[in-house]
Amino acid sequence: MRGFSDILPPASRRWGMLEERAREVLGGFGFSEIRVPILERAELFSRGIGEETDIVEKEMYTFEDRSGDCITMRPEATASMVRAYIEHKLYAADPLVKLYSIGPMFRHERPQKGRHRQFHQVNVEVFGVSQPMIDAEIMAILMHYLSLVGAAGCRLQVNSLGCPNCRLPYKEILRAFLKNHLPRLCEDCRRRMERNPLRAFDCKVPGCREIMSEAPLISAYLCAPCAEHFAAVRSYLETLEIAYEVNPRMVRGLDYYTKTAFEVVAGELGAQNAVAAGGRYDQLVAALGGPDIPGIGFAIGMERLLLILPDEPLSSGPSLFIAALGEGPRREAFSLSYKLNRAGVRTLIDYEGRGLKAQMRRADKFGARYALILGEEEQRTGQAILRDMKEKKQEEIPLSSIFEEIIRRVKGRSP
Ligand code: HAM
Repeated sequence: MRGFSDILPPASRRWGMLEERAREVLGGFGFSEIRVPILERAELFSRGIGEETDIVEKEMYTFEDRSGDCITMRPEATASMVRAYIEHKLYAADPLVKLYSIGPMFRHERPQKGRHRQFHQVNVEVFGVSQPMIDAEIMAILMHYLSLVGAAGCRLQVNSLGCPNCRLPYKEILRAFLKNHLPRLCEDCRRRMERNPLRAFDCKVPGCREIMSEAPLISAYLCAPCAEHFAAVRSYLETLEIAYEVNPRMVRGLDYYTKTAFEVVAGELGAQNAVAAGGRYDQLVAALGGPDIPGIGFAIGMERLLLILPDEPLSSGPSLFIAALGEGPRREAFSLSYKLNRAGVRTLIDYEGRGLKAQMRRADKFGARYALILGEEEQRTGQAILRDMKEKKQEEIPLSSIFEEIIRRVKGRSP
């Protein structure tokens, strides 16, 4: 199906590594993992993300299940995490809760480079902190992770989207501006002008872009608390020495954001240039029926992250291939390989009883670093041959301590 991909080895190893790194980094900063279902009631997203967004209007996989309930395959994780936070009263002991979640999301978009219908996010949320320090910390954690996994050329862009107090009057001003340019606006922008005029900033139609380059910006209309919050976020980013740019035209494709919004963009990605994005959502918990608790978070698009990582070769081949000849040695190889794999030495044997030459060719083909040769002759002399396939050297090692000897060489330490 278009937009749905298999993740094959060896690339799947890189996926595993990226996820493992995310767990390490987030665990280190005090986050716990939460796993939320892939299916939710459709209304969670229409209420959470906003009726007037692309996601809700035209991208959700929504269907009626066999009991007639209207179900959506999650297009993002924030709404689900907020639902779980409310449903399980995770705020009961203390509203401050740091959670992360890793998994697939579903949006019926037009597939292209960096845009899929099933894609994967590492999604991070902090509940219960309204102070700007956390905004800066969240962005710093994101940038730390990206640099740790080797993502180069990432730029952090920040903006403030204000709160209802300042955004409502600003929307009026923007609406009036758009009305003045009505005949030149595209269908979508005209339609959205009434309820969601900010979306016009994201319109890709050249005519609309030109108009929007002159549009009034929210930064000039922020209320005093929002302006102070934004100034503090920037100064805390500077304290942590995190490079950033203010992008006053950044609006997000989800309606729940208040105050801080941010994106990490990478030039190499072309049109779909956001590797990660997030922001503050101080009203979302209450809007979804919970207490008045603020939140902030981000999600990293893993497919896009992979696109900007250097293409290092990934070896998933065995460390050791055991070439065995004859029934006794083959049984010995079978048991030794099981023990070595258990001890963390990736070992492969030949199951088919091929000749020595054919087995050595397989060792080569699989990219094994070492080959162990076990034949009846070796069993008689009590010595086996261990061949270093890279250095093209070989040595004899005693069969009596073969397990320990291999571990010592292959893992560089005694078992
Ligand atoms: P978002 O901007 O919709 O935000 O998505 C975050 C990231 O997911 C994007 O920057 C991009 O890397 C990736 N992404 C989105 N759509 C696709 C797609 N169709 N194909 C591939 N990658 C994609 C959210 O989802 C918010 N829930 C983020 C957040 C968390 N805000 C607060 N907490």
